[in-house]
Amino acid sequence: MSAQTLDQLPTPCLLVDQERTRANIDRMDLQLGQLQVPLRPHLKTCKNIDIARQMLDAHPGAATVSTLAEADYFFGHGIKDLLYAVGIAPGKLQAVAERRAAGMHLSIILDSLAAATAVTAAARRLDCAYRVLLEVDADGHRAGFRADDPDLENSARMLADGGCEVAGIMVHAGGSYACQQTEAIADMAATERMAALSAATRLREIGLEAPVVSVGSTPTATFSRNLDGVTEVRAGVYVFQDLVMAGLGVCRDEDIALSVLTEVIGHRVQSGQVVIDAGWMALSRDRGTAGQARDRGYGLVRDVDGRDLGEVVVQATNQEHGILAHADGTPLSAEEFPVGRRLRILPNHACATAGQHGGYWLIEDGAVQRWLERCQGW
Ligand SMILES: Cc1ncc(COP(=O)(O)O)c(C=O)c1O
Repeated sequence: MSAQTLDQLPTPCLLVDQERTRANIDRMDLQLGQLQVPLRPHLKTCKNIDIARQMLDAHPGAATVSTLAEADYFFGHGIKDLLYAVGIAPGKLQAVAERRAAGMHLSIILDSLAAATAVTAAARRLDCAYRVLLEVDADGHRAGFRADDPDLENSARMLADGGCEVAGIMVHAGGSYACQQTEAIADMAATERMAALSAATRLREIGLEAPVVSVGSTPTATFSRNLDGVTEVRAGVYVFQDLVMAGLGVCRDEDIALSVLTEVIGHRVQSGQVVIDAGWMALSRDRGTAGQARDRGYGLVRDVDGRDLGEVVVQATNQEHGILAHADGTPLSAEEFPVGRRLRILPNHACATAGQHGGYWLIEDGAVQRWLERCQGW
C-alpha cells in the first residue's frame, strides 16, 4: 500500500507513532538495564517485524509469542528463540515438534500434571525433546501451579524422565493490571519474583538445573525494584502503551503510540454527542479503564495530529459507529466537531485494538511513512 497523508487514509485505520514507540522502548530498556536483566519482549502486541526489531535492538535474539502463527511469522524473519507463553494445548504438540525439527528454538509452558503427561507422551511418540517452562501462579490471576503444589515437582520429574528439557520457571503477575497504586504494583513485582525464585529452588532441590527464571508484565517490569535471581523479563504492551497503562501510572496519555484514525459522520444534537465511523470493530470491545479511577469509555479522543482535546471519550459503540461525549457531560458542539473532521482515538488496551486491524500506518514527524503488516490468526 502506498503512503498517503492523514487526510487521505481510509477510515477507520490504525496509526502507530514512531517517535513515541521508540521512546517507550528506550524507557523499558533503561529500566531493565538498571536492574541488569535482559528483556524477552512479548511480540503479541506489535505482531510486526519492523517494530519487533526495534524492541530487540538491545536484546537480540529471544522473544515471546502468544500464538504459533506469531512464532512462524517471526521465525520466518530470523528470530529463532521463541517462548510460546500460553499453556500448551495437547493438540498443538505435533505442530511444536515440527517447528523444533525445522530449527525453531521453541519453548512451551504448562501448569498441570495432566499437561506434563500429554507432553511426555508426545515426546516419546514424536521423538521430540520439548523445552518446557513450568508456569507458577503468583496472584490467582489466571494460570500456573499454586505455591506448594507437589505437582510442580512431579511434573518436572516426569518431563525430565521422558527426555524433555525442563528449562525453568515462568510467572506472569497479570493481577498487576488491577492495582490501584504504583506502590502496589512494585509489591506485586516483588511477589512475582519471589514466586518464580522459590519454584526454581524447588526444581533445583530435586536435581534439575532449571536455569530460566522468567517473569513479567509491563506494570511489574516498570515498577520492579529488584530482579536479582531473575534471568529474563517478559513485557509487550510497553511498546505502544495504552489508557489502562496510563491509568496505572505506567505511562502518560502522551506516551501512547497507537491510535485509530476516524472521521465524524454525524451528530446527536439533543444529547450533545458526536458520531464517528469507528465502532467496536475498529476499537475493540475492551473496557479496561472501566474499573479505574478515570473511565475512558472505549477510548480517548485526540485531534488528527494527536493533540489534547480535553476529556472527550468514546462513550458507546456499535459495530461501525462510535458515540463521542465529554466525560463531564458538557455537550459537544457540532461546530467544533463538524462532519468530515478527522480525529484519533487512543485505545484502552493496545493489544485488543491492534488485534482488530490487519496492519498499521507508521507515522513519523507527523507524516504517514508506510504500511506495516500485522501477523494474524493462531
Ligand atoms: C505470559 C505473559 N507474559 C508476558 C506478558 C506481557 O505483559 P504486558 O502485556 O503487560 O506487557 C503477557 C501478557 O498478557 C503474558 O500473557
